[in-house]
Amino acid sequence: MTYMNPDQSSSDDQRVAASSDWIAARWNKKPRVAIVLGTGAGDVAKAISAEHVFHYLEIPEFPLSTAIGHSGTLVCGTLAGVPVVAMKGRFHLYEGYSVQRATHGIRVMHRLGARTLIVTNAAGGINPQFVSGDVMLISSHLDLMFRPAQPRQVWNFERVPSRRSDQAYDLELMAEAERCAREADFPLYRGVYAGMLGPQYETRAEYRALRKLGGDAVGMSTIPEVCVANELEMRVLGLSVIANVADPDALAPTSGEEVIEFADIAKPKLKRLVENVVQFASNPSLG
Ligand code: HPA
Repeated sequence: MTYMNPDQSSSDDQRVAASSDWIAARWNKKPRVAIVLGTGAGDVAKAISAEHVFHYLEIPEFPLSTAIGHSGTLVCGTLAGVPVVAMKGRFHLYEGYSVQRATHGIRVMHRLGARTLIVTNAAGGINPQFVSGDVMLISSHLDLMFRPAQPRQVWNFERVPSRRSDQAYDLELMAEAERCAREADFPLYRGVYAGMLGPQYETRAEYRALRKLGGDAVGMSTIPEVCVANELEMRVLGLSVIANVADPDALAPTSGEEVIEFADIAKPKLKRLVENVVQFASNPSLG
């Protein structure tokens, strides 16, 4: 059985092709890894030896990002010697994008050849053991955005649930990130990422409820990207920078500026993790 999503224009695959063909005509490498650089991933961006930096507005059919802390460029180059393509700036559903548009970049990076996706984000810590500046390894997520992620024009119910929905985050990549954190001697906690639509930060009642539901961190991105990457059968690693710790019983107001400030503490850790996992994922025996 097939079902046409009314939100999707019939030309969606063509839009992905238009973006990726334009990039491929200017950059002749095939990326092994795609990276989404969220708040706190500035050092990762600097570590990439860029061969091309494209502004989203010059890439045909690419959406524009408007959120605080997101500049909107696609960086093509090498990281630790491995060809990578990285989105500096992502698209959030709260900016008004459909899931299809918000995940356009993921599909473009996949079409360029990337079969591994590393997503990073800043999130609020709802596990009371977290402190600001910690990094959490996303082991699973709670999708509270309630928007179906549909990477294809026609959703094929015969493929539902998708192959990796039971393990959206790749176990080998997680183990490698943990090995790297042990070696570098910083804590890396596994946890559940709860995805909310936003854009407002949560109320006390919501933080408390999210904790009861099993969340360790809460944010407003990542889940649509991961679902689409899973559907495209990419290996996924997710890293959350714990920007603010939300204690519902002593709740301090959260601001966008504060989130960016605390994300700074995590920058070197994120750089080390991403560099290691990129090298690990480039090993041809991983597939
Ligand atoms: N809630 C949702 N998203 C966030 C938060 C938060 O507390 N902090 C950073 N991103």
